[in-house]
Amino acid sequence: MGFKVIILAAGKGTRFKSELPKVLHKILGKPMLWYVVKAAEEAGADEIVVIVGHKKNLVEKFLEEENLPVKTIVQKEQLGTGHAVLCAEETFKNYDGKVIVLNGDTPLINPEDIKNLVSIDSDMVVLTGETETPRGYGRVIRDGGEVLKIVEEKDATDEEKKIKEINSGIYAFRVKPLFEALKNLKNDNAQGEYYLPDVLKIFKEKGLKVKAVKTEDFNSIMGVNNRYELSRAERILSERIIKNHQLNGVTIHNPESCYIEPEVNIGKDAEIFGPVYLKGKTSIGERCTIGAFTEIVDSVIEDEAVVKTHCHVEKAHLKKGASAGPFSRLREGTVIETGARTGSFVETKKAHLKEGAKANHLTYLGDCTIGENTNIGAGTITCNYDGYNKWRTEIGKNVFVGSNTLFIAPVNVGDNSITAAGSVITKNIPENTLAIARAKQINLEGRAEKIRERNKRKKK
Ligand code: UD1
Ligand code: CA
Repeated sequence: MGFKVIILAAGKGTRFKSELPKVLHKILGKPMLWYVVKAAEEAGADEIVVIVGHKKNLVEKFLEEENLPVKTIVQKEQLGTGHAVLCAEETFKNYDGKVIVLNGDTPLINPEDIKNLVSIDSDMVVLTGETETPRGYGRVIRDGGEVLKIVEEKDATDEEKKIKEINSGIYAFRVKPLFEALKNLKNDNAQGEYYLPDVLKIFKEKGLKVKAVKTEDFNSIMGVNNRYELSRAERILSERIIKNHQLNGVTIHNPESCYIEPEVNIGKDAEIFGPVYLKGKTSIGERCTIGAFTEIVDSVIEDEAVVKTHCHVEKAHLKKGASAGPFSRLREGTVIETGARTGSFVETKKAHLKEGAKANHLTYLGDCTIGENTNIGAGTITCNYDGYNKWRTEIGKNVFVGSNTLFIAPVNVGDNSITAAGSVITKNIPENTLAIARAKQINLEGRAEKIRERNKRKKK
């Protein structure tokens, strides 16, 4: 059965004490609103409408940047959740099906719960849940099995406050009676707002069919109204994501300390040692190992590649079986081919290390190609920046770069060549060549003794 969705996202979120609208606060790298839109999509919505208002430009900008398939409607003044839905009347005037209302601040909503609401035959269905800590939520007032009304915390009597069944703020409606009822809402309540849950009573008075169904997973309807709840929602979502990877064949040690964003892919038999941060659109292949204290952002780590402990990897690509770390920093545009590796305190940017190339210690490789099986000695630096422009260093295959070599780019090194340790290379090196570019050593015998005597005299 087809259905449309309205997501309420116009509120300010006063309890967040923030300049940012509430629905843009992030859980595992994505705004809360993103999760709600994804759940609606996954449940099979035909159309998704987002009600925006407070700082709407920011919310609209985010929706556009993420390319989410939604339409926005503006609620100029935030007069309550009922008023927010009423703003969508024009958009729905030629529609006679079902509409699901979701909240932008209920990010953990399960697509299954949405599908369930759609499948129930009724004029209105409200999704409820039971909790030992109902504070802040609207309470569901029943008489026997039948639902009578929903009372907001601020309007509830002490007796009503004890009720543990709460309103999720998520509903299914037949659209025609919904908009009729919304026009009859009053705002004579503690907050002076037009409450969406008040349509329940109006439906009942009109003899329309109203049902309340309880979710089995309370987390799915958890409302996030402040930063404490934000962190709790993040923990719950994190557990969901990690469990999913585990059930798909990924070994995760120390899972409580792992931060894995929702768009990260991990292949089976990969092994992850927490704490780690895996962010953005990172993809990790099968049988990879990711060491502790490592952060990987928007990167591709192919099968069997290894990223050891204490690495920072961003927009980089490790090919099958490549290896990095411990303590490597791989920046944007880095490509490490099969059998190539970077070791401790190696920083790379737009560096292409071809098959079998090695940079094991203390090195900066920027804007460069390192040919097959070339060995980069400790302390090597590609001096790629002259204060104005970036220049490339091209090093061929089977080159042996002596320790502490500086390449003043642009500069090329031919295959099979060698640079002497401590060289400052300013000119191209042909193939098969030994390049020595350092001052010649002079040994002055006996001079050490004289210097010591002179220094002693000075001290007096
Ligand atoms: C609401 C429900 C409450 C329920 C709870 C579940 C009402 C009156 N109360 O309370 O019964 O238990 O959700 O989490 O509906 N919004 C607008 N325009 C407005 C006001 C709010 O778009 O004028 C949006 C907010 O951005 C938010 C959502 O509606 O995404 C809910 O508003 P919020 O103020 O958080 O309602 P609660 O007090 O949590
Ligand atoms: Ca809320």
